[in-house]
Amino acid sequence: MTPDDKKKQVALAALETVEMDTIIGIGTGSTANHFIDALAGIKHKIEGTVASSEASAERLRSHGIPVLELNNVNEISVYVDGADESNKHMHLIKGGGGALTREKIVAAASKRFVCIADDSKLVDVLGKFPLPVEVIPMARSYVARELVKLGGKPIWRDNFVTDNGNVILDVHNLEITDPVALENELNAITGVVTNGLFARRGADILMLGSDNGVKVIE
Ligand code: 5RP
Repeated sequence: MTPDDKKKQVALAALETVEMDTIIGIGTGSTANHFIDALAGIKHKIEGTVASSEASAERLRSHGIPVLELNNVNEISVYVDGADESNKHMHLIKGGGGALTREKIVAAASKRFVCIADDSKLVDVLGKFPLPVEVIPMARSYVARELVKLGGKPIWRDNFVTDNGNVILDVHNLEITDPVALENELNAITGVVTNGLFARRGADILMLGSDNGVKVIE
């Protein structure tokens, strides 16, 4: 199976985690897109969705799936999203698509976080995938210098502005042995909006598409 076949396989399987007549949080990226397409088949059975990006909101609307404002919603039963890396503790690196801030907000506001990915995303130690950090534009150089002090090599993502009007620094050369500590440390740098470590609020369930079917870690 190709990585995309595995993403499609796991996205379909994630439909089982959807609670009927509730509001579903929707992630961003190619795996989340497969989930949106699958969700279209049961759109009459859910109350609506909250999207983690303009791109996902647009795709949801193109299927006739209602998209609600988070501020108008009391409870999201489950958040379904992909990841760039996960360790076995379900600490994640996210933000390859640049939607990390809204993803983190919707994940925080959801009762359960179901992470869906192809099996290549499961790693022993996080950090081979460059860690995205969303930064207020005027703080870019300052934050980059602080990231270098922490041992990282930040690269300004070319021609990219987030849905929130900010820039992304992709931090290379990190070996993340304590994801919770690093998430806190990065959050404390003035000018950082969000970092792509989802460790304080990691996934509750990890579903991995593979040649041998969908593997579930909980
Ligand atoms: C977007 C994300 C995505 O979940 C992550 O990049 C994985 O993407 P894909 O499903 O395309 O492999 O965090 O900001």
